[in-house]
Amino acid sequence: MERNGRLIARSEGGPYNPRFAGAPGVAGARIHGHPTTFQRTVTPETSPPGRRVRDSATDMAHIVLPGHANVHGSVLGGTVMHWIDMAAAVVANRHSRRPVVTAAIDDMAFLAPILVGELAMIRARITLVDRSSMEVRVEVDSENLLTGERRHTGTAYLTFAAIDAVTRRPVAVPPLLLESDEERAEHALGLERRRLRLERRRAREAADRAAGVR
Ligand SMILES: CC(C)(COP(=O)(O)OP(=O)(O)OC[C@H]1O[C@@H](n2cnc3c(N)ncnc32)[C@H](O)[C@@H]1OP(=O)(O)O)[C@@H](O)C(=O)NCCC(=O)NCCS
Repeated sequence: MERNGRLIARSEGGPYNPRFAGAPGVAGARIHGHPTTFQRTVTPETSPPGRRVRDSATDMAHIVLPGHANVHGSVLGGTVMHWIDMAAAVVANRHSRRPVVTAAIDDMAFLAPILVGELAMIRARITLVDRSSMEVRVEVDSENLLTGERRHTGTAYLTFAAIDAVTRRPVAVPPLLLESDEERAEHALGLERRRLRLERRRAREAADRAAGVR
């Protein structure tokens, strides 16, 4: 969209919102010079009215190798968190079709080890969309490839923000279309999780200011 001779990175999720505008004085993004991969994706003018959970659903599987393991022969927690972050990022990318950054990861418990030789299955689904932010639920299960035994080993909720490819500022994302009672129930719980998350964010920022690190 052109506005005052400028290319506007219009919000996909609704009317143009100046909160998501680019650099000071620039209502959006003008593309100069050689386009990068991200710049080529800016300003889709045929925006979808919304996307469904299944449009971005992502499943990944990793065989746990010795290089992934701790000294007990099971996968490192940090490696599992990396896989979780990657699967959730794909979901957020698919929903927004924008560059995304991880804004927050909620607390996560590791319920059972995943042993070397087992399969770690990562199931990521979008649960909630706000303006630029998206909540993604990720479930991790293990499968013993010899016996077929499966175990649930943990669940995590991550929040991603979609950003403009040029200005790197948050941009609006398409709304989420909920199709089933299960999706609606998860979304309702997500609203409460989001409220608590933002409360924690404010408390953390206040503590940082008090400690002089902000
Ligand atoms: C995340 C980031 C884009 C937020 O930017 P900001 O200038 O604070 O902008 P906002 O406050 O508008 O946040 C953007 C969205 O993210 C959400 N958000 C930001 N921090 C959050 C947090 N800790 N928990 C939950 N949501 C959060 C905001 O609520 C907002 O959502 P909305 O637009 O749907 O209302 C910015 O802090 C950033 O780039 N962080 C680094 C991300 C990164 O590099 N991650 C990789 C790991 S280091």
